[in-house]
Amino acid sequence: MREDVAQILFSEKQIEEKVAELGKQITQDYKGKELVLIGVLKGANVFMSDLMRKIDIPVTIDFMAVSSYGLSTESSGVVKILKDLDQSIEDKHVLIIEDIIDTGLTLHYLCDNLLSRKPKSLKICTLLDKPERRKVELKVDYKGFDIPDEFIIGYGIDYAEKYRNLPYVAVLKRAVYEK
Ligand code: PRP
Ligand code: MN
Ligand code: MG
Repeated sequence: MREDVAQILFSEKQIEEKVAELGKQITQDYKGKELVLIGVLKGANVFMSDLMRKIDIPVTIDFMAVSSYGLSTESSGVVKILKDLDQSIEDKHVLIIEDIIDTGLTLHYLCDNLLSRKPKSLKICTLLDKPERRKVELKVDYKGFDIPDEFIIGYGIDYAEKYRNLPYVAVLKRAVYEK
């Protein structure tokens, strides 16, 4: 697994510090409000688990699992809900937690979908952002790091479902996906 890593972009320590910073900011911004964190499975699983423990106000959590379908490896923008929320978000402050934003199509769909359920507010928090790749405009409210247009793995992010358990964020070796 680790032999497939070309370069470590963000170490465990760098991620930990950034997550703590984001948690502090979110704590301040949502003080006195009822906050629902929505993790987007599977990628956001690791970030969500770490981040929620750095948020020092009462929160509830929920998850959605979505998949873009279509034959290409590119996100088609047509998103299928594999698992929906367990609870209503009507009149709640909602923060979507993502591991990475690439084209933005997944979140664009998700925001549209969640807004129709009439939350009191809806914001986005992502650990990583590849702004170069964006196909639809998206307002990112909380962001960990901007990253270059490389194949990223680790800290929840997969290539062909592997590498999610790497504790850091890394660039995948070209040889792995070009073979
Ligand atoms: C990845 C990532 C984001 C999405 C970003 O999820 O976790 O959810 O793609 O891409 P986009 O901005 O181009 O839509 P993926 O669909 O691979 O599912 P996973 O989280 O289960 O790995
Ligand atoms: Mn995902
Ligand atoms: Mg994936």
